[in-house]
Amino acid sequence: MISNSIYKYYVLVFILFLWSGCIQQSEAPYTIEKTATGTSAMVVTAHPLATEIGVQVLKDGGNAIDAAIAVQFALAVVYPVAGNVGGGGFMLIRHPDGTAQALDFREKAPLAATTGMYLDSSGQVIPKMSILGHRSVGVPGSVDGMCTAHDRFGSLSLKRLIAPSVKLARDGIKLTSNEAIELNGARAELQEVNGLAHPFVKAEEWQTGDLLIQEDLSATFERIANEGRAGFYSGPTARLIIADQQRGNGLITQNDLDSYHSVWREPLRGWYKDYEILSMPPPSSGGVALLQLLEAMEERPLQSTDILSVSTIHYMAEVMRRVYADRAEHLGDPDWVDVPIDNLLDSLYIRQRILDIQQMATPSNNIAAGIFTPLESEQTTHFSIVDQQGMAVSVTTTLNLEYGSKVIVQGAGFLLNNEMDDFSAKPGVPNAFGLLGSSANEIAPEKRMLSSMTPTIVARDGKTRLVVGTPGGSKIITTVFQIILDALTFDLDLEAAVALPRFHHQWRPDTLFVEGGRFDPDTLLALRQRGHQVIERSPIGRVDAIWIAPNGVLTGAADPRGDDHAAGF
Ligand code: GLY
Repeated sequence: MISNSIYKYYVLVFILFLWSGCIQQSEAPYTIEKTATGTSAMVVTAHPLATEIGVQVLKDGGNAIDAAIAVQFALAVVYPVAGNVGGGGFMLIRHPDGTAQALDFREKAPLAATTGMYLDSSGQVIPKMSILGHRSVGVPGSVDGMCTAHDRFGSLSLKRLIAPSVKLARDGIKLTSNEAIELNGARAELQEVNGLAHPFVKAEEWQTGDLLIQEDLSATFERIANEGRAGFYSGPTARLIIADQQRGNGLITQNDLDSYHSVWREPLRGWYKDYEILSMPPPSSGGVALLQLLEAMEERPLQSTDILSVSTIHYMAEVMRRVYADRAEHLGDPDWVDVPIDNLLDSLYIRQRILDIQQMATPSNNIAAGIFTPLESEQTTHFSIVDQQGMAVSVTTTLNLEYGSKVIVQGAGFLLNNEMDDFSAKPGVPNAFGLLGSSANEIAPEKRMLSSMTPTIVARDGKTRLVVGTPGGSKIITTVFQIILDALTFDLDLEAAVALPRFHHQWRPDTLFVEGGRFDPDTLLALRQRGHQVIERSPIGRVDAIWIAPNGVLTGAADPRGDDHAAGF
């Protein structure tokens, strides 16, 4: 891959952007590496300690699944804003022989959930009810997911994999500047939901380098390390979860914990140019939407000079608008609704969907989800790992919003998700990400809420080439889309692709979101003149990705937008 002058311009602008707010970063307690190369293995995660734990597992003879499990538990300690045992996620695995699995450990609605549970007596959505406190919590899947992956592919003991996190939680971790800011920002809500008796709020504000000690979490991890799934879904941890749910009028019972199980699913497979794209099937909308977006780009010949040009951004935004209209109407939990995947990925259908793209933006009011005749027949975290044998693992995991529901299970020390907000509480009413949904994504007991998480692996000539994913709620899909285009079409180095400014359109609201201060003002003016309602906003996504060159050299790229860290050997 080559670098080009546009990339250099944007990297310079981005360095200045980071520098403008970096006084606290000079006190950083960790050395953070944004890029790494290796000839054997690579780990890229949202936190340097989690990355190092994953690397050590690989050096000790563990495989990529072992490393992923160790990283998942580590992130729950060192990155509590999104790392978790009280949430859920997706794991995509590609083996050196090309076989692949997708593990769905997405949360489920509790057995007592009802379609109208967030509506008042007049049918209006009750503000905040699906995002704050005990009622917003879905039945957690992360621990079951890790144990399920371990049962099938793990090679080191669960005890070995969790041990570093038991110690980190007990001894404490030093907060980065970003983490101190995030914890202070969530202080009022953490206090509102939990009072003061937990480790995340103290009398004074958090400072960079302060020690965060999580003793209850350490004890919970020891139970999981000793007993596996039962250390979380039964016994003392389960009793603490249920008592805490009762304290806050939550719905989760022992029956919910007993009946929670992860599901192995067939990964979605598609092609973009000569590249095989593997991604997550429903209940993620990510894989379907990503393949639709890429298929639409096949229709448009692009050269490296087209990168971030007005006409390319315009075309991509128009494609995004149409794909998200489909997402709102057709996507949901495949165990509950018939998701028309074949129709949505039919290349003829996609070509017809983009026929009406013009020079001017199409107002979203003029776009509806596609109709076809049936064919016959802003907080989440991502990590990417490749091991010495070439097994690739791409994991996106989430509590949903920052610190999830803000509920900390008393005595067990972990945060619970607010994933129930990813359901459509009422048709036509947007969720926290502004996403709309239909009956395909309405609430039902034991149903999985629709997700945008898009862990993805790209292969060429039978070999893994790119492992990629990101947090970012509704913006996950379009971020992964842009990284793939930047790397595969515009030939950018992975580091450059990850640093490049990002944009996003999701049909509703009818807005083209762009990262603030990162686009040429003339470009934004030209997009407005084409009819786009452009809004500058905070950074989009935090991509942690790995590129494997044809000669086998691995490059890890950690997003400069956070504390993300790459390490390889
Ligand atoms: N909670 C964000 C997502 O799953 O899309």
